[in-house]
Amino acid sequence: MTTPKKRLGVKSIETKHMAEREEALRGLKNLDRKTFLKVSAAALSAVAANGLVSPHSFQPVRVAHAETLSGKVQSFRFAYISDSHLYERSLNDRFINALMRAVDDINAMDPQPDFVFYGGDLAQLGQTKEIELGAQILKNLKAPLRMMVGEHDWYFDMGEKWRELFGNPTYSFDHKGLHCVVLNSVVEKDFWTQRRLSPMDRMKTVAGLDNGMQSSFSVGAEQRAWLEADLKSKPNEAPIVVFSHSPLYKLYKPWNFWTDDADQVQAILKRFNSVVVFHGHTHQLLTNRIGNIHFHGFLSTAWPWPYAPQGLPELTIQMGRPDPFNPNDGCGDGSALIHPDGLADKIYNLWNRNPVTMTRAFMTSRGTKDRPPIPLLRSY
Ligand SMILES: [Fe+2]
Ligand SMILES: [Fe+2]
Repeated sequence: MTTPKKRLGVKSIETKHMAEREEALRGLKNLDRKTFLKVSAAALSAVAANGLVSPHSFQPVRVAHAETLSGKVQSFRFAYISDSHLYERSLNDRFINALMRAVDDINAMDPQPDFVFYGGDLAQLGQTKEIELGAQILKNLKAPLRMMVGEHDWYFDMGEKWRELFGNPTYSFDHKGLHCVVLNSVVEKDFWTQRRLSPMDRMKTVAGLDNGMQSSFSVGAEQRAWLEADLKSKPNEAPIVVFSHSPLYKLYKPWNFWTDDADQVQAILKRFNSVVVFHGHTHQLLTNRIGNIHFHGFLSTAWPWPYAPQGLPELTIQMGRPDPFNPNDGCGDGSALIHPDGLADKIYNLWNRNPVTMTRAFMTSRGTKDRPPIPLLRSY
């Protein structure tokens, strides 16, 4: 009887993929910049082995020429990552790889963005290990990082771990003449105390979005008062950018694509000539304009949500239906180019589709100029 020859040095694609995955996950335990480069390259090749590499590399960035105009913003670009929904590494590595891919995308931008904005929902169930893992991966960004909180980061320990690592979720900062405000827009009324829910049941209820037990999101009276005070000294001509996790308008209540006191927040912002709101949470191409306020959604690195069934804002160019066999389709990251008037060209860097840019001209012309091509495939 002949024994099959032992094949030395030839690994199947599957074995190779598993080995690379192991290396990537092992490396996450000790992630300094040098290790990360190795680890993220390993993660990327694991993705490549599955045929998931995007045909579109990150778009070459337009150089943001700094314009020194008195009283105006110096043009600049920031990049964003959002909604990574990390599980602990022992449970799921797909979302970890996706976040590492986004970090790689942004680290490859030349020139580098002025900062990277994280749009919330770093964790899936607000677990310490999930938030720490996210912080570890994001540490490898070359550009400075600004953080925003999402409901998935908050409702296990009411933001304790998140605040310990990232600070106060409500803050403002100035960048090149632009005033930026970051809000915690996922404040919920207490639905848990009377029901005696455990922290995990509270978290899972919020994460479920549509089980009817939880309340709607809001910014709340306290933060609205803070916002008014923060903006008090700003003249009406001062361009303002606001970051919120949920959209600061009312789109679809059953999924909390909604902020309950959006009208009151908009009223505070109404006197300004130029306001742009960037939000996470909706995981899709989503564009809106209400009066002077332009709204842009962020893509998720984890999954795309379907569109709300009751219609969409007029300016939204809908995403095509994602390929269900490709877990990266419909996901991505992106950037925004801020113009001297404070308005933005917003780029959705879809990992498996052509990138889509919603320009300032598209927004100011209410969709008559610079309309991006409509995707050929049906939306979802
Ligand atoms: Fe999310
Ligand atoms: Fe969310």
